[in-house]
Amino acid sequence: MKNLISCFVTILWCTNFISAQQVTPWLGAGKPVDPYHYTQVKHEIYNNAAVSCAHPLASLVGAQIMKQGGNAFDAGIAVQLALAVVYPAAGNIGGGGFLIAQKSNKQLLAIDYREVAPLQSNKNMYLDKEGNPQLELSQNGRLASGVPGTIAGLFATLSSAKLDFKLLIQPAIDLAKNGFVLTEREANSLNSNKKYFIKYNNFSPAFVKDQLWKGGDTLFQPDLAKTLTRIQQQGAKGFYEGETAKFIVDEMKKGNGIISLEDLKNYKAKFRTPISFQYGDNTIYGFPPPSSGGIILLQMMKMVEKSTFIKKGFQSPEATQIMIEAERRAYADRAEHLGDPDFWKVPLKEMSTDIYISKRMSDFIPGKASKSIDIKAGNVKESEETTHISIYDKEGNMVSITTTLNGGYGSKTVVQGAGFLMNNEMDDFSVKPGVANMFGAVGGDANAIEPGKRMLSSMCPVIVTKGGKPSIVVGTPGGTTIPTSVFQALINVIEFGMTPEDAINQPKFHHQHLPDEVYTEPDFPASLKNTLELMGYKITNRASIGKTEMIYIRNKKIEVAADKRGDDSVAGF
Ligand code: GLY
Repeated sequence: MKNLISCFVTILWCTNFISAQQVTPWLGAGKPVDPYHYTQVKHEIYNNAAVSCAHPLASLVGAQIMKQGGNAFDAGIAVQLALAVVYPAAGNIGGGGFLIAQKSNKQLLAIDYREVAPLQSNKNMYLDKEGNPQLELSQNGRLASGVPGTIAGLFATLSSAKLDFKLLIQPAIDLAKNGFVLTEREANSLNSNKKYFIKYNNFSPAFVKDQLWKGGDTLFQPDLAKTLTRIQQQGAKGFYEGETAKFIVDEMKKGNGIISLEDLKNYKAKFRTPISFQYGDNTIYGFPPPSSGGIILLQMMKMVEKSTFIKKGFQSPEATQIMIEAERRAYADRAEHLGDPDFWKVPLKEMSTDIYISKRMSDFIPGKASKSIDIKAGNVKESEETTHISIYDKEGNMVSITTTLNGGYGSKTVVQGAGFLMNNEMDDFSVKPGVANMFGAVGGDANAIEPGKRMLSSMCPVIVTKGGKPSIVVGTPGGTTIPTSVFQALINVIEFGMTPEDAINQPKFHHQHLPDEVYTEPDFPASLKNTLELMGYKITNRASIGKTEMIYIRNKKIEVAADKRGDDSVAGF
């Protein structure tokens, strides 16, 4: 009967006091988080705390955790686990991510739980005898996976949280065990990936059923519920050792996978130092390598900051042109210089100086497109399924998390018996220096495969303070389009004075140096396109870009917005 229940019924908020030691009572039919009846809320203003993420149920879980006395870190843990159940395309325990935060005491935190290359990996592992790249292997199936980092990341986050981990994981267990209704978008997405789930698994995972999925059907994930329960009982060892680890290694042995028990046991999340820079009176904090996000954002923002062009306003040809040229130049450095800083000396300082930035823009010609061939080459393009969570709590903690399996549903291989999808993050390495992979990725030695190394990312979770006070929490999925989406969302707020809702939903454009073209979303204005074409830009229409989640704290209110492009939704109180 459950799978006939429609999800398009307004959720009823329960205002009853619930003890901090109870979680399950608020999950279920008619409860504050009702997996059978929920709606999307695209923007709201709250007084105390707010969450924005890719799925209404996960946002509701996060808000409820904070209502029960948890802080934004508790909510961040619970939301990521809930997304691993309700948003399997990108929410995950088989992938990795980055968390950047400012605590209420002003302490900054950057946790890197990016996947790593397995011990048996090597630089040529995706090349055939003739040295030709075998992209099918880096993108699909068991050999495409790096060693997952998400669970280690959640436990690294726990020291900043307040509640017991057992409580934080319980909503995800309930959602996996008791099921939740699919939105129409998710049902369609599972249907269009059915052929891959069949191809890359030799059993029938929970995502496959005989008939097509419909919005309103219930998805049950009993194996995933058992895995989450092992993590609840044993902590990180419930994933990296024992039964779950054995399930992963057994899955690898069914085919060409190379992740070993040793790889899993060795995995460690790392604490990094955030990249920070000033834009006017805003202090912006981004993620450092192994993400390219923070440094690319710094370069783009600094390249436009002093220009009179940006002052011409939103969608003016002048502001749009200078933003495109900043994007082109920032991306030109990416492939050559960026990689895992534990394996490669990344010249971060040099890339961020005012002298370097103004030199990069010295050949900018107003009203005329530059040519990427004249700007130092280098480009990495990644697939676009990832997911972002923005959270703010009443204590003043700001938490910005971007997490990923890489492609939609990662490698498409589900760990049999454990019920979760593995990532295909190995494809974010440069498969062969100088050779483009299926997504157009070109890289050099900085991002070549080495055992234990983290693959270069574009993920760009960001927090902003103004006068030392919390101001903005923002991020998005979207592969290489991530930094340009965050750049435009921030410029829309800081320069063009938009509300968060407008800032994230405006049509976007993206230039990544190579190919030398500007990608525009379907609703990008035709007249602006024409003007840019007259300047010499090649404009290519494409599908929507990213799904940005933004929180803007001003005048003691918390304005929160979820992207119109997906099932994304906000919650708070
Ligand atoms: N796999 C997407 C990214 O890390 O950029």
